[in-house]
Amino acid sequence: MLMKTLVDILEANHRLDNDQLAALLTTNDHQVVGYLCRRARAVAQEQYGTGIYLRGLIELSNVCRNDCLYCGIRRSNRHVDRYTLTPEQVMGCCEQGYQLGFRTFVLQGGEWGDERAQWVADIVSDMRRRWSDCAITLSLGEHSREVYALWRQCGADRYLLRHETHNAAHYARLHPAEMSLAQRLQCLDWLKELGYQVGTGIMVGSPGQTIAHLVEDVQFIGQFRPHMVGLGPFIAQHDTPLGDQPNGTVDMTTRLYSIIRLMLPTALIPSTTALATLSPQGRLQGILAGANVVMPNLSPADQRANYALYDGKASAGAEAAEGLRQLEAQLHTIGYHIDWSRGDHNSSAFAPH
Ligand code: 5AD
Repeated sequence: MLMKTLVDILEANHRLDNDQLAALLTTNDHQVVGYLCRRARAVAQEQYGTGIYLRGLIELSNVCRNDCLYCGIRRSNRHVDRYTLTPEQVMGCCEQGYQLGFRTFVLQGGEWGDERAQWVADIVSDMRRRWSDCAITLSLGEHSREVYALWRQCGADRYLLRHETHNAAHYARLHPAEMSLAQRLQCLDWLKELGYQVGTGIMVGSPGQTIAHLVEDVQFIGQFRPHMVGLGPFIAQHDTPLGDQPNGTVDMTTRLYSIIRLMLPTALIPSTTALATLSPQGRLQGILAGANVVMPNLSPADQRANYALYDGKASAGAEAAEGLRQLEAQLHTIGYHIDWSRGDHNSSAFAPH
């Protein structure tokens, strides 16, 4: 079968079998990759036009109880200055973001035990009161169903929790023994049941990842049908056990954006900071491959360096909330613009089959 036909089948049926996916992920035929990218871009534009949604990212704390082998803020990294923003600082970031035009805030941070759940709940309640027209997204790792329910009641709308890899053995290679893929998937199910718009995703090119793993990930995403799909290349962080491993690539990351866009036409797909870190053109290449969201950093500038998940993490220029003009100018060069709305998932447009 012609490889281009696979792209057409994916676009028409929103699914491929494992062998077909593996073929698309491994082909060296630039024409096929280019066609995949163009079809994904066309579908993204049918759904969302040439507007790119913004999310203001607030890095709440780099304190983390987990010890993920890839992550710069893992518990056993002694070279990190640990910080936690005060509630006042969080509100300050939101205030500044609101003035700049943001209508979605993402609170992301290391994972804490449930004992600090109320602290987060109070911040979410405050945000909900003060910015009733804004979407509140949390990205704070694994918690009990009760804690997720509490935060939802306080007004959180969305939750990001990447599954990182859907292969249990690969998951075990990237995470400490006390973590499991099963628990991660349980959390994702709870979040969905509780009515969050849910985001999941992976690191592309993480150590030990094979094409078969990527196929499993894509099939899982197609079947779980998250509202948002966050995919970024793995980038080594020098103080971690995986610090000497090769980085993921722009090509594989953008290829996955395109495949996911054709599988889930309405998905919200950020062109991630990790992709922008790998290459100066990464952000725009992601959008041209079918992404429709960017997440500029709204964290206090003096703390950003301490949220170093990986080496060289971009946090200035078009990555930063202050750099919105630069971002807008970059988007214009490829015929896109910022969409200033809350940017909710377009769930009515695409009926599951
Ligand atoms: N390279 C790329 N992405 C990373 N993350 C954590 N560490 C790294 C790294 N070294 C990603 C994980 C996590 C998200 C918040 O950041 O996928 O879910």
